[in-house]
Amino acid sequence: MQENFSIRPAETEDIAGITCLNDLAFGQPDEGELVHVLIEDGDDLLSLVATTPTGEIIGHIQFFPIDCVPASETVKFAGLGPMSVHPRCQKAGIGGTLITEGLAQMKAKGIQRVFVLGHKDYYPKFGFDVAETAGYAAPWGGPYFMALTLNPGGPEAGQLIYPDAFGSG
Ligand SMILES: CC(C)(COP(=O)(O)OP(=O)(O)OC[C@H]1O[C@@H](n2cnc3c(N)ncnc32)[C@H](O)[C@@H]1OP(=O)(O)O)[C@@H](O)C(=O)NCCC(=O)NCCS
Repeated sequence: MQENFSIRPAETEDIAGITCLNDLAFGQPDEGELVHVLIEDGDDLLSLVATTPTGEIIGHIQFFPIDCVPASETVKFAGLGPMSVHPRCQKAGIGGTLITEGLAQMKAKGIQRVFVLGHKDYYPKFGFDVAETAGYAAPWGGPYFMALTLNPGGPEAGQLIYPDAFGSG
C-alpha cells in the first residue's frame, strides 16, 4: 500500500515500536532482539525510522560498527541490518529510501565500507556487491554477503569482527 512517510533518527521511546515492526516483518523475534542488544551494548551506529503522518513506525534500518584485524590503518567499517518495512507497506520505496538516507549518513561519518548479509537480489540495487567482500574473512559468506565502499581507506583484507550481539566472535 502506498503511504506517506518521513524518515527521522530513532529515539529511545521508539524501541517498542521498532521491535514490533521487526517481529511483524520477519515473522520471528530474533531480529527485534538483535536491535535491542546492539543498542544495549552501545553498538548502534545509526538507527533510522520511517513514520506515517500519525507517527506509526512503518520502517527501520540500523547500522553497527565492524572492526577488522589485523589492521594496518584506521578501520571505519559498518554493518547494515537488521532492516524492516511493515508488510502492508513493502515494495513502495520505503526500504530503498531508508538505505539511501542511511548510506548518505554513513558516508558523511567517514565510514569506508558497509557490509550486509541479506537478500542477494535486493542490496545490489543500492551498489552492494559480493566481489567487494573478497579478502575479508567473516562468520558468513556466499552470495548473501555483500559490501559497498563509501570512502577511501581502511584495510583491503582481514578478519571482520562483528559486535557481540551477533554471537559470532
Ligand atoms: C526487504 C525489505 C526491507 C525491503 O523494503 P521495501 O520497502 O519493500 O523495499 P523497496 O520498496 O524500497 O524496494 C526497492 C526495490 O527492491 C525490490 N525488492 C523489495 N524487496 C525485495 C526482496 N526481498 N528481494 C528482491 N527485491 C526486492 C522492490 O520490488 C523494488 O524494486 P524496483 O526498484 O525494481 O521497483 C522489506 O521487504 C522487508 O521488511 N522484508 C521483510 C524483512 C526482511 O527481509 N528484511 C531484510 C533482511 S536482509
